[in-house]
Amino acid sequence: MGDNSNSANNIMDQALVIFGASGDLTFRKLIPAVFNLFCRGYLPSHYAILGIGRTEWSDEAYRDKVVTENPYLTGGTREKKEQFAALIHYLPLETSTPTAYKLLKDKLQDLFQKKPGPQNIIFYLSTPPLLYGTIVENLALQGLNKDDNGWKRIIIEKPFGYDLASAKALNRKILDYFYEDQIYRIDHYLGKETVQNLMVTRFANSIFEPLWNRNYIHRVEITAAEQGGIDNRGGYYDGSGALRDMVQNHLLQLVSLVAMEPPTRLDAGAIHNEKHKIFESLRPLTRDSITRDVIRGQYVSAHVRGKQIAGYREEAGINPDSRTETYAAMKFHIDNWRWADVPFYVRTGKRLPTRVSEVVIHFKPNHHHLFGKKQLTNNQNMLVFRIHPNEGILLKFGLKAPGAGYRPEQVNMDFHYDELSEKYVPDAYERLILDAMQGDSTLYARGDSMEAAWQFVNPILDAWQEDPSIPLYGYPAGSWGPEHADKLIEGENMAWRYPCKNLSEDGLYCEL
Ligand code: BG6
Repeated sequence: MGDNSNSANNIMDQALVIFGASGDLTFRKLIPAVFNLFCRGYLPSHYAILGIGRTEWSDEAYRDKVVTENPYLTGGTREKKEQFAALIHYLPLETSTPTAYKLLKDKLQDLFQKKPGPQNIIFYLSTPPLLYGTIVENLALQGLNKDDNGWKRIIIEKPFGYDLASAKALNRKILDYFYEDQIYRIDHYLGKETVQNLMVTRFANSIFEPLWNRNYIHRVEITAAEQGGIDNRGGYYDGSGALRDMVQNHLLQLVSLVAMEPPTRLDAGAIHNEKHKIFESLRPLTRDSITRDVIRGQYVSAHVRGKQIAGYREEAGINPDSRTETYAAMKFHIDNWRWADVPFYVRTGKRLPTRVSEVVIHFKPNHHHLFGKKQLTNNQNMLVFRIHPNEGILLKFGLKAPGAGYRPEQVNMDFHYDELSEKYVPDAYERLILDAMQGDSTLYARGDSMEAAWQFVNPILDAWQEDPSIPLYGYPAGSWGPEHADKLIEGENMAWRYPCKNLSEDGLYCEL
């Protein structure tokens, strides 16, 4: 295995095997993440990356592709890149052919032979999901699931299943060959600094947690808006849609972090247990509540900032009659002691006015309106966790407007991550791969929770599939989605927060 002088003492020697090595994710995210770990001295002294794909590349050709010519590999000196490239190897392999895995085993033996000792290996599955079952089975047939000569772990990319039944079947299949503590189901939202900060803000401060319940919180709102469309992922997206692509995983993971009870310890088991209780407490949706409280939409062509944007059905790889939703919004409840009757609202969509993800905690207004009724809507306290862009936290509260009388005005108190200029903020994949190397699955999803999240969204998928009378609203590209979603928010003068590029601003007409 190659040498890296920046070894981190607590990380054992190991190899990372990437299935799907010629895929987009490997170029854009995985290799850059491992390169950053290398530059920051987090790779052990003996480390190898082995790319597996169908394309016939030599080691050198693959190194050129993923290092020298990779536009996503930014930073680092030329020398660092050369040292890093020397750690990379490539094996062309037909992953659906069982006999091919003997070649993989031999290649790994070869990579490890220069250094006798435990053969610690992470297998990263970044192929089309249909292959996940075949890959784990064939790894096991070669004994590559056995921990006896060094640990073996697998990281599984999303989508983890297509619905409840397929997620259960996939869990069962993987668990036939690997133990739960060897399995790392990735949800890249959990690797984001700002998402991890949800737990720290809640549990490291004494001022928020006492208010964090139905007595003080009016509603919780989560938005994950994207300005972009589906790029070149039409084939995948048209079979998926916003509910599967964003809500079942990323957004419900955020809900669980906002709503969970404090864990007994800071370890994966304790945190997963608390998150799981939230998934189990999601009030099951009925046909009536789906028709009333879940909105789906699909973008149609529109003129946006001087450019004509194609409608979803006109995009490459999309069925011209497609009924796949590119927007989903919903209201639901968590039936437990802390959250009884507090509505949770989530929404996500492609081709919205801007790219922004945030969690908004809306606090209840005062019971007595000393400064007039207007106080109710204008000065409701709000705590905003901005996940991206302009990462930070914002607290909105009322202050006396200068001048005569006592007119409260809403003002902001905010913190922006970019003020921590000397602190390095790792990319989500960087953090998650490092955690898997260290055997920490806290920021990964556990199998039973994955199934519970599917259990919650599956009735929506069924209803949409079976009942054509449930509308699929068209919305113009560049707009905030179907207006019907506005009606989901209960309460006089209550509305979604319309976020702007800048965390501290909101409204329909700010800079996007
Ligand atoms: C991915 C989805 O999981 O998350 C994409 O498949 C989506 O469709 C992306 O664009 C959003 O991630 P981020 O980190 O850009 O918010």
